[in-house]
Amino acid sequence: MAQTLNTKLLILGGGPGGYVAGIRAGQLGIDTVLVEGDRLGGTCLIRGCIPSKAMIHVASKFDAMAHAVGGSKDGIGLSVAPTLDMGQTVAWKEAIVDKLNGGVAALLKRGKVKVVHGWGRFTDAKTCVVDTAEGEVTIKAETVILAAGSVAAALPHIPFGGDVISSTEALSLPELPKRLAVIGAGYIGLELGSAFRKFGCEVTVVEALDRILPLYDDALTRPVKTWLEKAGVTLHLGAKATEWENNELLVEKGGETLRIPADKLLVTVGRKPRTQGWGLDQMGVDMAGAFVKVNDRMQTSMAGVYAIGDLVGEPMLEHKAAAQAHVAVETIAGQNRAFAPNAIAAVCFTEPEIVSCGLSPDEAKAAGIEAISAVFPFSANGRALSMEAGHGGGFTRVVARKSDHRVIGLQAVGQHVSELAGEFCMSIEMGAVLEDLAGTIHVHPTLSETVHEAALRALGHAIHI
Ligand code: NAI
Repeated sequence: MAQTLNTKLLILGGGPGGYVAGIRAGQLGIDTVLVEGDRLGGTCLIRGCIPSKAMIHVASKFDAMAHAVGGSKDGIGLSVAPTLDMGQTVAWKEAIVDKLNGGVAALLKRGKVKVVHGWGRFTDAKTCVVDTAEGEVTIKAETVILAAGSVAAALPHIPFGGDVISSTEALSLPELPKRLAVIGAGYIGLELGSAFRKFGCEVTVVEALDRILPLYDDALTRPVKTWLEKAGVTLHLGAKATEWENNELLVEKGGETLRIPADKLLVTVGRKPRTQGWGLDQMGVDMAGAFVKVNDRMQTSMAGVYAIGDLVGEPMLEHKAAAQAHVAVETIAGQNRAFAPNAIAAVCFTEPEIVSCGLSPDEAKAAGIEAISAVFPFSANGRALSMEAGHGGGFTRVVARKSDHRVIGLQAVGQHVSELAGEFCMSIEMGAVLEDLAGTIHVHPTLSETVHEAALRALGHAIHI
């Protein structure tokens, strides 16, 4: 039965941008309706960050056990090879997703946010029609937050379908492909490609550029490249995927055509904002290229319409979307807020992990900043050695302005370094100088000591190197 709802705030999308906005609006007592066509949690919770990290975790565990067959350096030995029940692994991963999905629903309910399940379509900037299981619901709102997220970019000549899959399908395969080809050596291609290799698949990665993970500099990506080579992942750089026929990927490389047979082809060539199919063109908002244009309060060019997350630009990261949700809702509540972070950290969950916050030495130079930088290797950190994370070329690096020692960048590559992201971000956000990092007593034995030592080294007096 057709129904009309009037609300103060309408949020389109229940991903990490939209649901955080909903919970925050609930806390501020704003009458809110949230529209979601799929499951609450969005790409991150349902088919992205969380499920991929679960699969990466199992893959690493499986790989460690496989390497213990017949004995290993640390004394663990297995007499038989481990087995893998992919169906059970996927079910375990789904249970985590279900738990988080249920948690989001409960938090929204507690905040008295009305969730309307169905795909919304705007007919004007403040009116959204939703097709729900119970019939059409028309929502009229005073204020709108657009949080429609992004979708996997497709290659026009190799469309998704059949054995050509995106990360979504890759995370729910009922059984392991024997041979997996991957197009794109970016975040998703390498995170998932590495996991499938650990599961025992033959993995070939094809990348158009002449390097992996183009967002990061050579020093940071070198340990990842070394691991890929050692693990037996075939990497074709400077190679363009041109065609997929009869389960063979055709690749142009150095004037030659390679043919790569594969059971599945994973296409991970970026994501694009979801701007189609929900009436954005009826809303009269300005665009900035492919993205919705916003100011630092997350306001679009249409009065009362806000936009956040992947829809408004790079980096397309969960924590950026959530931060923008706070700004949008608090602005709507009348607070004086702006989205103006000093830095947003990014983590790549490859083997080993990379974390980067602020400027690299090259980026500082390109920005005309005279900088000093120093690295501290994991091979000289006791905790890293005790976790078998001291090999493989890991390090922590600090970059600071030469004139006043203000920290402008912190990066690390190595096992478990994702957990350093908080200190990296906090240091830059709080305007720390090298002396602050050097003067902070870091707990022994932890990987965080590498941050302390890198700062000491930049000041010319590291202890353990
Ligand atoms: P990406 O932008 O990281 O990498 C795509 C790669 O594909 C690039 O290196 C590009 O040169 C290559 N490429 C494009 N067309 C090609 C072709 N025809 N042949 C060969 N190579 C080609 O994109 P990805 O991995 O799909 O990830 C999308 C986004 O999702 C990321 O930018 C990130 O924002 C987000 N993400 C974040 C993660 C995290 O925070 N840990 C994990 C996964 C995704």
